[in-house]
Amino acid sequence: MFESLKLSDLPTINCGILREPTSTRPIIWLVEQDGVRAVVKDFSANKFFFRNTVGRFLIWREAKIYRKLRNFKGAPAMYGTIDGVAIVIEEIQGTDLGNYKKGWRPPDKFLDSVKELVDDFHGRGIAHCDLKRAPNIILGHDGRPYIIDWGASISDMEFSFYPVNLIYQKCIQDDYKAITKLKLRYTPEAVSPEERDEYCHRSRAERFMRAIRDRLRDFCQKIV
Ligand SMILES: Nc1ncnc2c1ncn2[C@@H]1O[C@H](COP(=O)(O)OP(=O)(O)O)[C@@H](O)[C@H]1O
Ligand SMILES: [Mg+2]
Repeated sequence: MFESLKLSDLPTINCGILREPTSTRPIIWLVEQDGVRAVVKDFSANKFFFRNTVGRFLIWREAKIYRKLRNFKGAPAMYGTIDGVAIVIEEIQGTDLGNYKKGWRPPDKFLDSVKELVDDFHGRGIAHCDLKRAPNIILGHDGRPYIIDWGASISDMEFSFYPVNLIYQKCIQDDYKAITKLKLRYTPEAVSPEERDEYCHRSRAERFMRAIRDRLRDFCQKIV
């Protein structure tokens, strides 16, 4: 499915752009072929330098993680990549949580299912690392959660030795903190005092990592 897809086919089989590209973000196409729909995250429209550095790197990372996630029930299947600058994945029919503001009530057990998924991919040696962004979780039309956007994810095999194993541990904790963040937003009565304390405690390491990330982002925005 979608194996022989070329970048030049995308405008033809496009059935709705999910997001227009920006200087640092890819275009996201919704495409349809033989009655099957897929989502294509595509850096080919980004400027040369960004496309060939950050773009290729993120697509390579995301594809690598999707391969590790084969048969994982809480993520879309990957159909493949195109020229190293785009990734084609299964469309999840549903709504991403970025659309649900404070006060919305998730379906019963939805957040428990998110926790099960997180335990499951951690069991496979993967940390998502960007789960605090609500748009990276989709509430499927089947009422189940699906996790997308694995470009920042890391695996325990790559981060197995000191001191980088500490980064992996940090990302594992952050994935759990992301669940607390969702609970605080949608079901605050379900947050235990320990979870609340842990969530509010921002370690120096976390602030340090965030400062580096923000500087890198500013830098990328300046050079593209
Ligand atoms: N497989 C998918 N099925 C349905 N919607 C998707 C899918 N992948 C991405 N989207 C939509 O596109 C948005 C951006 O995709 P994402 O992979 O998170 O890109 P980015 O890395 O730019 O954040 C998501 O928040 C979601 O709304
Ligand atoms: Mg995202």
